Amino acid sequence: MSLSPAQLLRSRLVPPISAITAYDYPTARLSDEAGIQLILVGDSLGMVVAGNPDTTTVTLDHMVYHTEMVRRGVTNAVVVSDLPIHTYDDPDAALISASRLMAAGADAVKLEGGLGQIGKVKRLTLSGVPVCAHIGMLPQRVIEEGGYRKKGKLKEEADRLLEAACALEDAGAFAIVLESMVAEVAARITEAIEIPTIGIGAGTECDGQIRVLHDVIGGYPWFVPPFATVYGNVAEVTREAVASYVKDVGPQEVI
Ligand code: KIV
Repeated sequence: MSLSPAQLLRSRLVPPISAITAYDYPTARLSDEAGIQLILVGDSLGMVVAGNPDTTTVTLDHMVYHTEMVRRGVTNAVVVSDLPIHTYDDPDAALISASRLMAAGADAVKLEGGLGQIGKVKRLTLSGVPVCAHIGMLPQRVIEEGGYRKKGKLKEEADRLLEAACALEDAGAFAIVLESMVAEVAARITEAIEIPTIGIGAGTECDGQIRVLHDVIGGYPWFVPPFATVYGNVAEVTREAVASYVKDVGPQEVI
């Protein structure tokens, strides 16, 4: 029996799964060359690339443009693109939007939310579009939720997250991002489902980890999330290189 597109993608993800966001050709190519397993063209680009306070202004056209750039830079990693807010309000819209991201070069799409998204995940999966789910803190809902908050502290909320993860797996999701949730809840979910969990701010007991590229390389010094480990100093290197160039050009004439 041949594997479905979702099963094929899953077979390329070997725990512990390393995943990172990338938004353009050089960051995608460098990440791919460094051996990352999964590259997410995240709608976090609205923040770390475009300088907005959250992801809610990102459009499908933005995501198509950035997915094309990332695709050109990737040879090995699985490329997943985010469906931006209000581009998947119902199953038909989800399929139309996802088809544009797939045509731009994505191997799969990601959407945010739990039980409310089951119909859309089923529709996409049955149409041959692999779906990565995303539960816990949902950045696209940050305005209605009034800020970023760790999820799963109350038993009812933890149980709901577990129920959503199981339902998303049943609906056909090939993987699931667990964002900003109590580590024990993420561990429980990872234990309960077969598809890989990829955590961010969700403890170490997931099948993999995902981070925003700029947090890893030190490329966005104005805000660093508390759970981020910064491995590089791209901001400082950039400032120093540009300052050296400015110095080389010579003293500025004041007009
Ligand atoms: O857009 C993004 O970068 C994400 C990650 C935080 C998982 O969804």
